[in-house]
Amino acid sequence: MKSFINVSDIGLLSQALAEAREIKNDRYKYQELGRNKTLLMIFFNNSLRTRLSTQKAAMNLGMNVIVLDVNQGAWKLETERGVIMNGDKSEHLLEAIPVMGCYCDIIAVRSFAGLKDRDYDYAETVVQQFIQYSGRPVMAMETATVHPLQAFADLITIEEYKTTARPKVVLTWAPHCRALPQAVPNSFAEWMNAADVDLVITHPKGYELDPKFTGGARVEYDQKKAFEGAHFIYAKNWSCPGVTNPEDYGKILTDDPTWTVDTGHMSWTDNARFMHCLPVRRGLIVTDDVIESPNSIVIPEAANREISATVVLKRMLEELV
Ligand code: CP
Repeated sequence: MKSFINVSDIGLLSQALAEAREIKNDRYKYQELGRNKTLLMIFFNNSLRTRLSTQKAAMNLGMNVIVLDVNQGAWKLETERGVIMNGDKSEHLLEAIPVMGCYCDIIAVRSFAGLKDRDYDYAETVVQQFIQYSGRPVMAMETATVHPLQAFADLITIEEYKTTARPKVVLTWAPHCRALPQAVPNSFAEWMNAADVDLVITHPKGYELDPKFTGGARVEYDQKKAFEGAHFIYAKNWSCPGVTNPEDYGKILTDDPTWTVDTGHMSWTDNARFMHCLPVRRGLIVTDDVIESPNSIVIPEAANREISATVVLKRMLEELV
């Protein structure tokens, strides 16, 4: 695997899920694979789960790990080409990337959307530069538009908790006080479309996700109708994707509190499990009693981040040797 960005990069999902089960049964089985190999993790944005689970995954595989927080201790990086660098940015990403590639075997990158310029974000300008100039396999740890390690962990979790062969999985928008990117819902939709589930997406009008991720998934604007019969509720906020109105890209169109997932919402479902990628703002996305309920699987979902990252790194290492 030369890069891990989209669901197509992982190949057959049934095979990837089988590998996830194998890793979960013995997460140190491939300790020799990563001997004398180095993972460089580059963070342009904050993280708790991705940082810890990906580092743990690399350690499971016997790798060395270097973590670089670009905003803490590194030169401030210019990402645009063609600018006169007479401001506070001392180094250009186009030199920094190949230099980083000199010190590692695999690069993992976290770089969120700026939410100002849809074309720039959806072209995945930063991560594409890493793919083009690092000379190394590149793993997305959440980019401008995708978060595949999260979506893979979500799929592993759904497989573990499903009680019916083809569960109804509902991705629901929920309100938030800050404008958030669309990476998590984009990847969740993309991966669920590729999996054997009945995916329904619900959100207020104007929050339509990019069809390149949602494909033919059903969109239901009535949240109650969407929740009816659901086996999994996946809550997430996202800002306007700018699909119907490009000028609204990155904006908060509503903070309607009736979309917050509470016990009343969960009572519409078929005893659904509650999921969220975390971090989550209680009282906005979900109420305390729902996230603390026995149906909440947010912690096992987060635990599976180690498993998804181990499978992806293992695949990349297998192609290095
Ligand atoms: N879900 C997730 O990616 O969490 P972090 O932002 O803490 O890494």
